[in-house]
Amino acid sequence: MAITKTISLLCLIFAVRGEVRRFPDTLSFGVATASYQIEGGWNASDKGENIWDRFSHQPNTIKDGSNGDVACDSYNQHKRDVEMLKELGVDFYRFSISWSRILPDGFSNKISQDGIAYYDSLINDLIAANITPFVTIYHWDLPQRLQDLGGWTNPLIADYYTDFAEVAFEAFGDRVKNWLTFNEPWVVCLQGYGQHAKAPGVGMNGIGEYICGHNLLKSHAKAYHLYDDVYRPIQMGRIGWTLSSNWLEPATQSAADAEAADRAMQFNLGWFSHAVFSREGDYPQVMRDRIANKSLAQGYPRSRLPEFTPEEIAYIKGTFDFFGVNHYSTNLIKMLETTSIAPDFFLDMGVLVFQNPTWPGSASSWLKVVPWGFRKLLNWIKESYNNPEILVFENGFSDRDNMDDVDRISYYHGYLNSLLDAIEDGCNVTAYTAWSLMDNFEWDEGYTERFGLYYVDFNDPRRPRKPKASALYYKSTLETRSIERD
Ligand code: GAL
Repeated sequence: MAITKTISLLCLIFAVRGEVRRFPDTLSFGVATASYQIEGGWNASDKGENIWDRFSHQPNTIKDGSNGDVACDSYNQHKRDVEMLKELGVDFYRFSISWSRILPDGFSNKISQDGIAYYDSLINDLIAANITPFVTIYHWDLPQRLQDLGGWTNPLIADYYTDFAEVAFEAFGDRVKNWLTFNEPWVVCLQGYGQHAKAPGVGMNGIGEYICGHNLLKSHAKAYHLYDDVYRPIQMGRIGWTLSSNWLEPATQSAADAEAADRAMQFNLGWFSHAVFSREGDYPQVMRDRIANKSLAQGYPRSRLPEFTPEEIAYIKGTFDFFGVNHYSTNLIKMLETTSIAPDFFLDMGVLVFQNPTWPGSASSWLKVVPWGFRKLLNWIKESYNNPEILVFENGFSDRDNMDDVDRISYYHGYLNSLLDAIEDGCNVTAYTAWSLMDNFEWDEGYTERFGLYYVDFNDPRRPRKPKASALYYKSTLETRSIERD
């Protein structure tokens, strides 16, 4: 009742306030999830253990001591998930494949028939509902067996990853025409290998993340080329990846802060985008120079950032059919030069990252509501990489426990307006994805931060889902393909 009231009130406010902005017909709308965050069924059938199973089963890793053993129980309830997608009226659903559900040991010598059957059934139901599947091949849940061999720091991972991708193309590529090799390599490498925050929690600051990134870039390129050479001609789909980026705004108008913010963009988005999307390829020059200089000053015989050969640079460059981006918030950047004997990603970057305390917040410490940053980020991508087709694969807001989630509605309203501003600026954005379809396991934050359009009751073993006010807002936005001007 409260929700219906909120929606009617919003409609009334909009009706009084006025100008309607239409989304172009070329823009499609979806919602996203990820396997470990929703599936549960962590040891169902012959599924193998992955790094999030291992990490979350250890003490003091997850804020509320929880794990994804059951999560939203989507392993058993994907039919309900598809019903929700139909209720929302989305054009597409972005989900990911659990590597160790399909390949229990990580290697492709043994393929789980139950694992394949699960995704087959989901994909078939989506297609029957006229909802396009967008499949992320890797959304953070590496098989533990492969982590035991070094995970993303093992150069052979590019072969293992591409074998997994090939199993996915073979099994699902007749129906799946939109592939993402990776979700957010920056987070995978920085928080999983440089820091302890996320699985596998290696914590080799200033070293681990760069080795991880190096192998991950090669893995992406190898899977892209496999698809391009072998599967595209028969399956006729497209493939790219999705990178995370906040907008990084200079804290003051000084030239030093402008330069610092540029540099920070290169260490954030550029670390993974430059090699793939720029005309020259390779890592951004500023990263190569700074990490090499600091490494030598710290007594290392070579840069902590590994080097690509000219052949590798050429092999990685251009491995995209679109530019995928996940965006949530904005940071302020100030120049901060320090010297340190200890290697450190943030000292390599040499900036201070912070947020304006007056910006409205969310349940996540890092997520402030700054809609104008979205427009600036999309324009930065347009300017930097020759106006590529951009697909926004995540955007969303967290709160604690709230069905009548007016703050989430206001977040989406602001960010969708900013998206329209960017489209009017000439950014070629063709997809927008809300994170997330439903509340789910928010990694190291457990279930303490909720991002869903649907509420999930994690205390009930049946994990019932209910639409929040924001689900109705999103549904009506998709129905009318328009919003009010802010
Ligand atoms: C992204 C990630 C998602 C989700 C979201 C909200 O970085 O891809 O899995 O957790 O953040 O924090």
